[in-house]
Parts: sequence; C-alpha cells; structure tokens
Amino acid sequence: MRYLILSDIHANAEALTAVLSRVRRKRFDRIVILGDFVGYGADPNQVVERVRRLRKEKISIRGNHDKVVCGLDPGQLFNPVALFAARWTTGELTQRNRSFLESLPQGPLEVDGLFAICHGSPRDEDAYIFSDRDADVNFRTFDYGVCFFGHSHVPSIFTLEPEGIRVEVVTGDRTRVRLAGNRRYLINPGSIGQPRDRNPSAAFALYDSRARVVHFERVPYDVAKAREKIHRAGLPRMLGDRLLVGA
Ligand SMILES: [Fe+2]
Repeated sequence: MRYLILSDIHANAEALTAVLSRVRRKRFDRIVILGDFVGYGADPNQVVERVRRLRKEKISIRGNHDKVVCGLDPGQLFNPVALFAARWTTGELTQRNRSFLESLPQGPLEVDGLFAICHGSPRDEDAYIFSDRDADVNFRTFDYGVCFFGHSHVPSIFTLEPEGIRVEVVTGDRTRVRLAGNRRYLINPGSIGQPRDRNPSAAFALYDSRARVVHFERVPYDVAKAREKIHRAGLPRMLGDRLLVGA
C-alpha cells in the first residue's frame, strides 16, 4: 500500500495546492493527515474544503491548533501570536468546517495495522519530538514499528538502534529512505504550510509500506501570495514573514 503523508497545512492554501498538484502524477492509495489543518494561515475554510473534497480515502487526526480553534482546548500552551491566530480562525470558520475539525480523532491511531500516526508524539498529542531524549521516552511507551508524527514542522527520522537513537534531519528536495525491518522509527514528513527548517518550500512524504520506503519531498509555492494574504487578514505580520525563510 502507498500512502501520501501530509502534516501541518496551517491554512496555507497556496502550499497545499502546490503539493496536491505535485502528487497528481504520483501513485498512492490513501491519504494520511497528521493534524494542524488550520491556524497561522489566512485560508482555513479553503484548506478544510480542499481536503474534504479529495477523492482518495483519508485517515486524519487532529492537531493542537485544530483543537484550540474548535474550543476543545483553551490554548494555555499557546504563545500570544498563535492564540491570536486561533481566535481569528474560529471567527472565520464555517459551521461545517468547524464540525469537520471537531470530529477529527485524537492520535495515536493505527493505520491498516501497518503503522501508527500521531500529531505531537504517541504519548501526548501536544508534546514535541525534537531530540533523541524526546524520542526515547516515546519508544519506551509504545511498540509500533513505524510511527509518523508532525507538530515540530521539521522533516526528520528517529531510529531506535541497539546502541541508541539515531537522529536525522532530512534536507534536500527529494530524499528516499529505506527502513530496515529490524528497527523502529518515528518519522516526521515536515510541514506543508509553515516549514521551520530554514527551507521555505512545502514538505510532504510518500510511504510505500510494502517496500518500506519513505520519499520526502519539497515543493516551492507562491510564498509571497500566502504572506500577503496573512498580512491583509490582519493576522500577526510575523506569521507571514516567517514563510519567506521557513523558520
Ligand atoms: Fe503545527
């Protein structure tokens, strides 16, 4: 089975459009979305509707921003900029799109008995996996062979090896990684709408579960347009400006 893995779209319609047009020529069976459909960006309704209309079977979980915009979480962990954007998003969302976000399940979720997905980490949907220590705590408390996660917005692979945890940040516009059969993995495809690894291009991944191969890709998109929409919407200007540098 081949899966398209999307994460952290963050209401960025331009980035999502670029990714969907890139994958139009690719072969995959299902779409997996790791949460944070909205928050930060200026197009929450457009993004949710685009995803809802995708004709492939979709398996989605909620992200921390999706929870806060729906009022399922008060957002105490949010900084003022993120909270402002969440409140703005709540005001923009149609009832239908809000209901869609509200109904997203909490991770971790098992997909076809082949791998798991979560937003922040398998232990806690709101927690980040940035370091080998973060990964270690998670490897100890769950037993999935492969788990895809989002939230950090950094394409990365954490591998549990006999001598410890190997941490790799995935750079480059196209990277193919074959997973070993006797190792366990935590894998982040990167963020579509708010990359934070100093590469402004949208990030996504494809996973071939039979071949155990992950393809990481980056797609340039109209960053200037997404930034301008954020500024025009009256959202904090830094949310648009950071798109230029991917940080
Ligand atoms: Fe996010």
